[in-house]
Amino acid sequence: MITLISSTNRPNSVSLMVTQQYAHMLEQRGESTQIISLEAMPDDFLGTALYHNSGKNEHFNLLRSQVEEAQKFAFIIPEYNGSFPGVLKLFIDGLKFPGTLRNKKAGLIGVSSGIQGGALALSHINDVFNYLGMHVMANRVKLYKIEDKLQDGKVADPQFVQLLERHADQLIQF
Ligand SMILES: Cc1cc2nc3c(=O)[nH]c(=O)nc-3n(C[C@H](O)[C@H](O)[C@H](O)COP(=O)(O)O)c2cc1C
Repeated sequence: MITLISSTNRPNSVSLMVTQQYAHMLEQRGESTQIISLEAMPDDFLGTALYHNSGKNEHFNLLRSQVEEAQKFAFIIPEYNGSFPGVLKLFIDGLKFPGTLRNKKAGLIGVSSGIQGGALALSHINDVFNYLGMHVMANRVKLYKIEDKLQDGKVADPQFVQLLERHADQLIQF
C-alpha cells in the first residue's frame, strides 16, 4: 500500500491531477493506493489542531491516523514561492511528534508552472523528512512548465509520463 499525499489545499490543483494519474500507474503495477489531498485539512485546523490542541481535532485526527498507519508515501508537491506549500508544513507540524514519519519511506514528485519543477521545493522538504527520520528515494521527478504538458487533466508529455512510470517502478521496489 502506498499513500499518496497531494500536498496543497488549492481547489482544482494540478497536483491532485498528477496524484490521481500516479496512483493509477501504481495500481496498474499491482500496488494498492490511498490518496490524502490536503484539501481535506479542516478549515479550523489552525485554532484546534496544533501545539496545545494537538490530537484534539477529530477531523484532522482521521488524517493523522491514516499517516500513522502508512509505511510508504509519495508526496506530489507543487512549487509555491520557490519552496513547498506552507500547508504541507502545517500538516507535518500537526502530526504526532516525534516518530510519525520515522523509518518510513517516501518518493517525491515536484510540479511547477516555471522551469524548476519544484527542484528547490523538493530539496527543502527532503531536509525536513530526513530530520524526521524518513528515508527519501533518490530519484525525484520534477514536472516543470506543467501547464504545457497537460491534456484533458492528465500529464500527456511522453517524456514526463516515462519519468513518472520509472519513478513508480522504483518506489514499489524502494
Ligand atoms: C501560492 C502560489 C505560489 C506559487 N509559486 C510558484 C513558484 O514559485 N514557482 C512556480 O514555478 N510556480 C509557482 N506557482 C504555480 C504552481 O506551481 C502551479 O499552479 C502548478 O500548477 C502547481 O500548483 P497546483 O498544484 O496548485 O496547481 C505558485 C502557485 C501558487 C498558488
